[in-house]
Amino acid sequence: MPTPTPLKFASPLIDEPTVAAVADVLRSGQITSGPWLERFERDLSAFCGGRHVRVVTSATAAIEIALQVAGIGPGDEVITCAQSFFTVSNMIVKVGATPVFVDCDLVTRNIDLGEVERKIGPRTRAIIPTHWPGSLGDLDRLYALARQRGVRVIEDAALVIGSRYRGQNVGAIGDIVTFSFHPNKNITSIEGGALVLDSAAETKRVDALRFHGIERLPDGTRDVAFPGGKFNLPDVNARLGVEQLARLPEFLARRRALVGRYFEQWDATPACVLPPRPVDGDGQSWNMFSILLPLDSLARTRKEFRDALMAQGIATGVSYEALHLSTLGRRFGYHRGDLPNTERIADSTVTLPLHAALTGADVDRVCAACAEILAAQQR
Ligand SMILES: Cc1ncc(COP(=O)(O)O)c(C=O)c1O
Repeated sequence: MPTPTPLKFASPLIDEPTVAAVADVLRSGQITSGPWLERFERDLSAFCGGRHVRVVTSATAAIEIALQVAGIGPGDEVITCAQSFFTVSNMIVKVGATPVFVDCDLVTRNIDLGEVERKIGPRTRAIIPTHWPGSLGDLDRLYALARQRGVRVIEDAALVIGSRYRGQNVGAIGDIVTFSFHPNKNITSIEGGALVLDSAAETKRVDALRFHGIERLPDGTRDVAFPGGKFNLPDVNARLGVEQLARLPEFLARRRALVGRYFEQWDATPACVLPPRPVDGDGQSWNMFSILLPLDSLARTRKEFRDALMAQGIATGVSYEALHLSTLGRRFGYHRGDLPNTERIADSTVTLPLHAALTGADVDRVCAACAEILAAQQR
């Protein structure tokens, strides 16, 4: 029997005209940050309702800079969802603040706002929710709470560029919003990330924080008053980002169609927890399709399930481990049992292949393989 084509769980889609456009930048000699970075920022700003946008080398850099811009450091607490990527807790700790982890909804994975409200204290300076593909949670309630308690919001929108909330793109409203352009995301600049902000003064501060802390003086010399990092995105990457952003509507439509196919083809026995079912016109972007395995009724482990898929050429991911149970998280006094939904997701989640280069037949193949393996692994 011929070996089936390997299916990646995430992959960028880059066409030949884009490769040629990037090659032109390489040939031009102007390869680091310059006009294409400015163009990428202008295009993203138009996408985000005209707000200020600064592009950096990753969403990790964007979140670190956002925390610094908000003046967050030692002695401060930042509330965040423990069902997210390591970036979030890493950057909170890196700026010297204390992460306060809260739980999330089992299906939508949105941060539990009731728990956020209970955990806001005198040292809380910010809330970082991670937005999940398929559902954005109640941003009205989040911002009402933040305003009432005088705390900043840094929206980790790494997974959801293109999701809409009350008719507007994520990023067009809110406080500081960050995006990722890693190759696994909905659009890519190889590595890359962005911050969206309202304040011109804070945007100027981002300019310094992403480039050595340098301020240009009227006499043509430069000064540094605080140590900035080196997070400027090169033009080669920005050129790719510009092309990818232009194709975002096409990528989103493709991802939505594939998610629709997952729901059509998924065999519900034995019962896995699926992401929230899309509603026509709900405007959600889909970066991942992550299920929860019914581990209690399976005779095998998640690793065995994933290995069985891999044996059929189907790659999967784990998104995400529980941040409060990482060695770093436990340093802040957290234990197993503290955040039950986060832990159940971390223990049983599997991210199935989803990207714009997949076909409907690929999804059918994944669904059939999952059904067969799950049936064979039933207790
Ligand atoms: C939810 C989330 N936030 C932030 C990041 C960090 O993105 P980057 O790789 O661009 O630093 C990731 C990366 O996978 C992520 O999944």
